[in-house]
Amino acid sequence: MIDLVVCLLLLLGISACVAEVYFVVAYTHSDFGEYPPFFPSFGRMKKVCLSEARKILAESKKVLKIIDLGCGSGSLIIPLAKEFPQHEFYGYDWDVVPFSIASFRARRIKNVQLFCTDYTKIKYDNADVILIFGGKKLFANWGDKLVNGLKDGAIVISEAFAIPQLVPEQEIDTPSYGMPLKVYTYRINKKRLAK
Ligand SMILES: C[S@@+](CC[C@H](N)C(=O)[O-])C[C@H]1O[C@@H](n2cnc3c(N)ncnc32)[C@H](O)[C@@H]1O
Repeated sequence: MIDLVVCLLLLLGISACVAEVYFVVAYTHSDFGEYPPFFPSFGRMKKVCLSEARKILAESKKVLKIIDLGCGSGSLIIPLAKEFPQHEFYGYDWDVVPFSIASFRARRIKNVQLFCTDYTKIKYDNADVILIFGGKKLFANWGDKLVNGLKDGAIVISEAFAIPQLVPEQEIDTPSYGMPLKVYTYRINKKRLAK
């Protein structure tokens, strides 16, 4: 009995060490907080992101391209792709741990493609809907490039962080676990951007 308890404690200790090493590596990889590190979308914020995306996907008669920038373990892209097999879903994440989880979850879903790469280096000018969980520093440094790379009429659903280069269509309060979080939705209007 004591042997079993010791083994369990040892296993717990090893798991905690592995998790700690992973978080340190992920934080370093995120340029010390400039890029959002991995944690799954959560709470009311996740629910609202899903429901906002569902509204757009359900209404459209044409095939839409949905790009999840920082798809993590797939908490948004996987349920949406399952629900809307008529649309095309693309997920990008540079962290191999959540990417592998998402890839495993997506293995039998035909309308999802996932890529383990830096999403600031890709093109998304054909995206109809963008999902993103960014960050203040990220949007300050890369927001212009993100916005200019999108096509007219594209919709952006941003979890937790506003994109300062754009005027939101909606700013939805989504308090989650005591945190005053929000979801922002944007529609790209090239004429307004040009002014
Ligand atoms: C807060 S998490 C989003 C989680 C996702 N919505 C989910 O539910 O699993 C942000 C994700 O963005 C990824 N990420 C941050 N910067 C990135 C970049 N430049 N290129 C690719 N992925 C990035 C992180 O690895 C992390 O998994």
